[in-house]
Amino acid sequence: PKNVGILAMDIYFPPTCVKQEALEAHDGASKGKYTIGLGQDCLAFCTEVEDVISMSLTAVSSLLKKYKIDPKQIGRMEVGSETVIDKSKSIKTFLMQLFEESGNTDIEGVDSTNACYGGTAALFNCVNWVESSSWDGRYGLVICADSAVYAEGPARPTGGAAAIAILVGPDAPIAFESKFRGSHMAHAYDFYKPNLASEYPVVDGKLSQNCYLMALDSCYKVFCEKFEKLEGKPFSMAEADYFVFHSPYNKLVQKSFGRLYYDDFLRNPSFVDEAARTSLEPYKSLSGDESYNSRDLEKANQQASKKIYDTKVQPSTLIPKEVGNMYTASLYAAFASLLHNENSSLVGKRVVMFSYGSGLTATMFSFKIQEGQGPFTLSNIVTLMDVAGKLKQRVEFPPEKFVETMKLMEHRYGAKDYVTSGDCSNLPAGTFYLTKVDSMYRRFYARK
Ligand code: ACO
Repeated sequence: PKNVGILAMDIYFPPTCVKQEALEAHDGASKGKYTIGLGQDCLAFCTEVEDVISMSLTAVSSLLKKYKIDPKQIGRMEVGSETVIDKSKSIKTFLMQLFEESGNTDIEGVDSTNACYGGTAALFNCVNWVESSSWDGRYGLVICADSAVYAEGPARPTGGAAAIAILVGPDAPIAFESKFRGSHMAHAYDFYKPNLASEYPVVDGKLSQNCYLMALDSCYKVFCEKFEKLEGKPFSMAEADYFVFHSPYNKLVQKSFGRLYYDDFLRNPSFVDEAARTSLEPYKSLSGDESYNSRDLEKANQQASKKIYDTKVQPSTLIPKEVGNMYTASLYAAFASLLHNENSSLVGKRVVMFSYGSGLTATMFSFKIQEGQGPFTLSNIVTLMDVAGKLKQRVEFPPEKFVETMKLMEHRYGAKDYVTSGDCSNLPAGTFYLTKVDSMYRRFYARK
């Protein structure tokens, strides 16, 4: 099979959200801290009737229906998530309910977990399967789903929630350039979830930023080396039309792009323009550690890369800024934003993707974009995904109601024997929602 990659995708995020500006005022943070400091506009969250399973059910059923995919045509289904509802039973098994009617139980794959990286692991598994000798000609289906919630404090405004379903197969409009992949994997305690009684992570915010940037440098280096070896010419930012980043909050994406710019400058000053060469010169011989901790360098990088950021990165930032960190779904929501904003003008373009999961695992890889065929065209994906429509249909909660919801969810985490309000008035038609958890912790869902 040729041009294996993404044939179709759909995204679901809860319509319930809180504005960062309102949250900032409510939390007593200084004006602009969340909106400019973190670069975020809004945060979506699950209320008691939604969870990672209901969001996944919604995303998968919506994708199958919109593209009229016969459920029998799915041969592998992989889920990436770090939202633990059960330590043994996979989210994938819940999704098998959607295949019962068709009688298709012959679907490989389970869940992949490592912080925000699980979605990428799931996607690679599906792509590798289609490219392998065990492929049986059917589609792969990837689900990236998370509800990102933090304890009260500085990390709380970086929450978010979403599920993305991705159909994988050959002759795809969004094709993997499989040979160009650079990974960086190491042991770190930057963000982890050791307390199994709580949904909240333990997070060292500063360390997690440094780990992210260090992994970015390392992946970019390997990516460039592989590119040069295979293409016989050096890779610089000029070789890619867009860069899409895992997006915990937009400010980190701005910093990341600045960092890649600095990497290019270090690799070969002629990769950057004259003015940037002059402004980055004083930082040429900083050690790695010094460079991660230099505020002046960070500023100089961002300044130097600002114009290119606007063309190569900004189009991918819409959903992450509006919805927040969606963990495994975050990178793919950023990519969905790029599709939404650039549509068919992406044909012939190269998109570089950077996936990061704390703990830590990271990979840089790339897509080559084509128009596609049949229902699997760029413009059809954009139309059916309807990002603008979904953003418009949202229901804004005041911060007090958001905090109240977080309290209730804390209480419900790991609990049994309760019935939810069943109030689905805020949810769009076709959305799955949680109705009850029985005395055996079994979860029950209905569809609006
Ligand atoms: N106006 C404008 N900017 C402001 C204002 C203001 N009034 N107040 C603060 N800021 C800026 C700060 O200068 C800082 O920007 P900078 O980084 O460019 O200097 C930014 O807002 C954040 O403020 P800080 O005080 O530095 O940090 P804070 O204590 O608010 O914590 C953090 C931010 C660390 C990102 C926290 O939200 C967090 O821990 N999040 C979760 C961890 C995370 O997302 N890590 C990323 C990778 S791992 C993952 O994906 C989960």
